[in-house]
Amino acid sequence: MSFPASRPRRLRRTSALRTLFRETTLAPADLIAPVFVHAGTGVEPISGMPGVSRLDLDALAAFGAEAAEAGLGGILLFGVPATKDPTGTSASADDGIVQQGLRRLRSESGTDLVLIADTCLCAYTDHGHCGVLNSAGDVDNDATLPLLAQTAVSQAAAGADIVAPSDMMDGRVGAIRSALDASGQSDIAVMSYAVKHASAFYGPFREAAGSSPQEGDRRGYQMDPANSGEALREAWLDVEEGADALIVKPAITNLDLIYQVSEECGLPVSGYAVSGEYAMIESAAAAGQLDRQGAVLESLTAIRRAGAGTIITYHALEAASWLRAR
Ligand code: PBG
Repeated sequence: MSFPASRPRRLRRTSALRTLFRETTLAPADLIAPVFVHAGTGVEPISGMPGVSRLDLDALAAFGAEAAEAGLGGILLFGVPATKDPTGTSASADDGIVQQGLRRLRSESGTDLVLIADTCLCAYTDHGHCGVLNSAGDVDNDATLPLLAQTAVSQAAAGADIVAPSDMMDGRVGAIRSALDASGQSDIAVMSYAVKHASAFYGPFREAAGSSPQEGDRRGYQMDPANSGEALREAWLDVEEGADALIVKPAITNLDLIYQVSEECGLPVSGYAVSGEYAMIESAAAAGQLDRQGAVLESLTAIRRAGAGTIITYHALEAASWLRAR
């Protein structure tokens, strides 16, 4: 049937009708807040991400309480350590900053909040790469695996419910899964960054985490943004190696891949609205070029509509408060 019998606008006439027929929902529990915990004291604003700061342990505990109160699904912890070295030793230290943060959150927030630890070496190595380097200065995939596994085991021991490897080394999900199982932590989940492009949209994050490569770039391990066949192969490898959930990032530039991975792989998929996506909206809104709340909620809804069950977003706390007020 076509016009005039068919009039799709009938279902858009009032707010109540639009709500009744809305196909995609967005709730605070779908949102995961990334948070930076640093080894220093105080709260340090991040210039490229207005509204986001590096938190010390006290501020992290307060953030955790706020996130639980807001009904967020979880928080994703990134560490900014006091010291760096060639092999990123502080990533897996029992008293590392993320491990301390996890213990603190676990003791203060109980099990109300899912705690996810980002597992990578780039913030902990002095050269800023996500793995260790061989004598030629290239990232040594296989030599990196045990270090990532050790890091994941220590994060789990400190209270992480989930570890999230973001390094893009081949075989890391399997290495981490085996190490967790061997250390008696078979109930700790792996949520892998399965599809992670070598993206220009991570710029503000690298300032926040102090994790820019000193030389070269990450294109030798992160994926080419031009590829979707490769993205599906990466996702399937993680499934086969024992991943429990998958992350696709960036989110807005990868809605097609969020859709494909969630349709095909059968695991929960999370879209990560990365630092550059956050900064784009913040800058445009600050310049009066768009409505901030509208732009944030529209983007998050699009990521859910594409197939992501959960969304990792720096807007999580604020979006949750807007959603509650709706
Ligand atoms: C670490 C890591 C990065 C991000 C998440 N984990 C940076 C990178 O790969 O360079 C980016 C997140 C963001 O931009 O918000 N490997």
